[in-house]
Amino acid sequence: MEELHNFKNEALALITEAKSKQELEDLKVKFLGRKGEVNKFLQNLTQLPPEEKKRFGQLLNQTKQALEQAIARKESSLVSQQETKLDWFDITRPGKKPPQGNLHLITQAIEEISTIFEKIGFIRVRYPEVEWDWYAFESLNMPKDHPARDEWETFFVDTQENKKWGKMVLTPHTSSGQIREMQRLKKPPIRMVNIAKCHRRQHDVTHTVMFHQFEGLVVDKNISIAHLKGTTDYFASQFYGPQRKTRLRPFNFKFTEPSFEIDINCPLCLGKGCRTCKSGWHELGGAGMVHPNVLKAVNIDPEKYSGFAFGWGVERSYLMKEDLKIDDLRTIYSNDLRFLKQF
Ligand code: DAH
Repeated sequence: MEELHNFKNEALALITEAKSKQELEDLKVKFLGRKGEVNKFLQNLTQLPPEEKKRFGQLLNQTKQALEQAIARKESSLVSQQETKLDWFDITRPGKKPPQGNLHLITQAIEEISTIFEKIGFIRVRYPEVEWDWYAFESLNMPKDHPARDEWETFFVDTQENKKWGKMVLTPHTSSGQIREMQRLKKPPIRMVNIAKCHRRQHDVTHTVMFHQFEGLVVDKNISIAHLKGTTDYFASQFYGPQRKTRLRPFNFKFTEPSFEIDINCPLCLGKGCRTCKSGWHELGGAGMVHPNVLKAVNIDPEKYSGFAFGWGVERSYLMKEDLKIDDLRTIYSNDLRFLKQF
């Protein structure tokens, strides 16, 4: 019995002091293995008289259990020690960056465009993207059934027509914002930039059903084409770079008279004409002097006031700025992070 006691104590001490997994494994074999110490004691058991057998047997069992538990405990403490050793930590190492999102390229473009116009006193406004026919067309000098409307391949909302305002549409352009803003302010001076979603029934590599426009409107006394030109040149130099400027080319819109297409000089030849641009100019978008009928529609006297307006695509303008040649415009709205992360 005494021998067994001593063995138990010594064995437990050795286990607690074990320095490595290997050392612990050796001890385990030595004490608990088939030919180990515990089994040797077990063999002795048979030679004992019955009454001692019982006590000895109990102690032997306790010893075995105590050793097993001690070994298991030691094992897990050695494992965690090893882990902390391996995981030593260089605090000067740069941290791992958590994945970080960024604003969509078109959101970035919209913010930049707003800032440019806000610097020269334009107020950023937003108006409904679901609109009445009257605001989208009729007030803009395009009466019902006018063939000019065909250019705006309009989505109609399947709802009851309003007696006064007509059918409900998804805004096919931001020009309806001109009317809303003139109604809001009632009288000039007006200087707004309306940036909003537009929808048209066009879906191919150069069109997305949903896109954005930014619409400028200035109405005041004595507003002339020179103000329009000054504003588009200012925008061109701010958005595209100091050497960029615009030119006006005659065009036709029902809501402006005269109407223009605004072109911007080619970034490579600055307007002289080169292999990539041929003419020296790229088309930006439409503009013109607000038609008297448009002013009349919102009770502004065209004899007293005049104005200019322009409406350009955000996507188109932004792609021109970055000189991005995207073979399918729909990629912009594809939610493909490999593309979006680059902006
Ligand atoms: N609303 C026109 C379009 O969607 C663009 C436009 C042209 C807007 C001339 C204007 C303008 O304000 O004066 O094609």
